[in-house]
Amino acid sequence: MTTPPLAGVATDPLLAWRARFPSVEGVLHFASHTLGAMPAEAEAAVAEYLNLWATRSVRAWEERWMRVPAELALAVEQLVQAEPGSVSLHPNVTVAQAVALSCLEFAPERNRVVCTAEDFPSVLYLYEGLERRGAEIVRVPARDGRRIEEADLVAAIDERTALVAVSHVLFRSAQLLDLSPVLARARAVGAVSMVDAYQSVGIVDVDVRALSPDFLTGGSIKWLCGGPGTGYLYVSPRVHGRLHPAITGWFAHESPFAFDAGPQRLHAGERRFWNGTPCIPAYCAARPGFAIAAEMGGEALREKSLRLTGRLLSLADEHGLTVVSPREEARRGGTVCLDVPNAERVCARLLSEDVLLDFRPGVGIRLAPHHYTRDDEVDEVMRRVHRAVEAER
Ligand SMILES: Cc1ncc(COP(=O)(O)O)c(C=O)c1O
Repeated sequence: MTTPPLAGVATDPLLAWRARFPSVEGVLHFASHTLGAMPAEAEAAVAEYLNLWATRSVRAWEERWMRVPAELALAVEQLVQAEPGSVSLHPNVTVAQAVALSCLEFAPERNRVVCTAEDFPSVLYLYEGLERRGAEIVRVPARDGRRIEEADLVAAIDERTALVAVSHVLFRSAQLLDLSPVLARARAVGAVSMVDAYQSVGIVDVDVRALSPDFLTGGSIKWLCGGPGTGYLYVSPRVHGRLHPAITGWFAHESPFAFDAGPQRLHAGERRFWNGTPCIPAYCAARPGFAIAAEMGGEALREKSLRLTGRLLSLADEHGLTVVSPREEARRGGTVCLDVPNAERVCARLLSEDVLLDFRPGVGIRLAPHHYTRDDEVDEVMRRVHRAVEAER
């Protein structure tokens, strides 16, 4: 693979938004798979929230705060082409998935949960907990090099499957799964499907109407540049009205301010999967990053990610570095993993030099360009990685 010539700033349309992320100046920011850069507007949004709290007190709910969740959910819906009112907000993906799981039964004959050994540990712990509710967990193992084969997932799904819960992009290896045959198999046997799209939305063009999962979850910290505090749950309109979450609360009631002691009468629309008081400050912080990604659109984000990860791969070859994340475009998430010698020390050295990246045991150092990355920064980061590897030998 030969590295293409540097693309000028003028030919990269997504760089038009870069000025809204001043924190990427003066560093080499290649860590968006773990913590996306902060947009300047996040500070103003949180300051506005605090100011309203101080100056408007209880009136802030009516005047502003009650509209915040809907605005953030709308940005998610735009980004993943979801139907209006299909997305609810939660503090993180683990809670969003717990709400979805609380809608399901795991009764004999159909009690299996099919997932993979490479899903994110937090959700694997949740599935493990379902054993107490009668579930049997089937973890599809990775083949060589942590690669999950879709055919293995398809083969694991049958009439005993209650739920298929899989990642879209695997967090450790950045492998993008082709979920179409997997979700088609789930539908064919009558199983519910749930996709953890945390590592795909914002970097892969996700269209929930085409992918057609029953549930899809994602969050704010990484590619959407929203900071900690927001997870989201998409529920397909196919199943929305039929589901009764056991994890619920007063904001999911059709009329929360009636303070009705029950039985719970679930809201028919977008609040059905809510529970307690929404996390307003986190949603204020998240909104600018989400809105920017929605303005850019999934197609442009994917196109740029493929171009820059392709550049990283070809420079890794030029520098003689070992790539352990997938190379094929159809298999590639937003991150390139390099299994360099003494990877943890290399990572620490680079962090001390303001090269922002991370390290994970088993896959080495992980680098992620994003919509704010310039081509010349990709070249510079690979020079710096090469130098750090030589220094730590
Ligand atoms: C694929 C994936 N799922 C889930 C999580 C974490 O979810 P939570 O928002 O519950 O912390 C991560 C975070 O690193 C992840 O990469």
